[in-house]
Amino acid sequence: EQIEKGGYDHFMLKEIYEQPQAIRDTYRGRLRVDEGIIKMAGMEDNLEKFLNADRILIAACGTSWHAGLVAEYIFEDLARVPVEVEYASEFRYRNPVITERDVLIVISQSGETADTLAAIKLAKEKGAFVFGVCNVVGSSIAREAHAGAYTHAGPEIGVASTKAFTTQITVLTLMALKLASAKGAISRTELQRYLTEMEAIPSKVEGCLKINDHVKYIASLYKEAPNCLYLGRGYNFPVALEGALKLKEISYIHAEGYPAAEMKHGPIALIDEQMPVVIIATKNGHYDKVVSNIQEIKSRKGKIIAVVMEGDTTVRELADHIIEVPETTEALSPLITTIPLQLLSYHIAVMRGCNVDQPRNLAKSVTVE
Ligand code: G6P
Repeated sequence: EQIEKGGYDHFMLKEIYEQPQAIRDTYRGRLRVDEGIIKMAGMEDNLEKFLNADRILIAACGTSWHAGLVAEYIFEDLARVPVEVEYASEFRYRNPVITERDVLIVISQSGETADTLAAIKLAKEKGAFVFGVCNVVGSSIAREAHAGAYTHAGPEIGVASTKAFTTQITVLTLMALKLASAKGAISRTELQRYLTEMEAIPSKVEGCLKINDHVKYIASLYKEAPNCLYLGRGYNFPVALEGALKLKEISYIHAEGYPAAEMKHGPIALIDEQMPVVIIATKNGHYDKVVSNIQEIKSRKGKIIAVVMEGDTTVRELADHIIEVPETTEALSPLITTIPLQLLSYHIAVMRGCNVDQPRNLAKSVTVE
């Protein structure tokens, strides 16, 4: 097992560090920057289904559901198609309205999650077109879907999903860009800009990994916290949810992810000097709003750990700690901002003596209800 861990203490850490390569492997052959195109056979063969879809439904569980939420933002923002993201377990049991003009995208690392598999069967019965985004080649979900795209993350052993998540986002982003360009919703120049930016993501992820020691130091300060709040807006709201999930799964600290603005409708009541708040503050259209959220936390003495883009000075003055990550375009930012949150959970869990790779009560794949 030590050999399989490749010199890392845990599979989770190894898999976090594998992300630059995993993302490259995922877009290899698909991202054709020189030609200004995206090649994805599973989508090209079924492009009409996507172009004619009234809406896109996304069903998944756990971390894969968070990847689905990121996809919702990018499909709606760039491809201008309505998207609904569903927990597969709820979707299958609530008699959903599905028609043959719907496209269902299912997302699953293992390709074996029982609820996600059942969601496919239901959608197929109602005549929808089902597209699978899976990591495990030949898995049940990959076989049941009408078409699909693999994530090529390689085996993920740690129960807490890391590289599966970022490679899912990579595939879904390529899909959204491909659809956006096929619909004429974005120009060739815009597409080219995204392709170039996507190609730069692996080296930016490497940049995030270089700040590991700084993140570890922050972890040492908050490892005893009983609770932790994660906030983000827009594309980074799902990243906040995923950050909170990662922390609770492996460290058993109670953590909640929230849209930053929604804080006022509940979580703000919990903020005091004991409460660490991890907030993602990228320079996007909502930046000023996030800054005002940070001020609100500060005035209630919450401890602020802010993930910011390099060179940010405004948040630096307000936050207790800043984690600087390389700048990228907003739509691709979840691929970057997720990385320090994975590291933060990892270090906190290790410092608390938790079994990082096999947290209590959790399974890598939930194949029964
Ligand atoms: C379990 C795992 C999670 C995973 C979820 C969905 O809860 O512990 O890491 O995100 O199942 O699994 P899937 O294989 O469908 O992505």
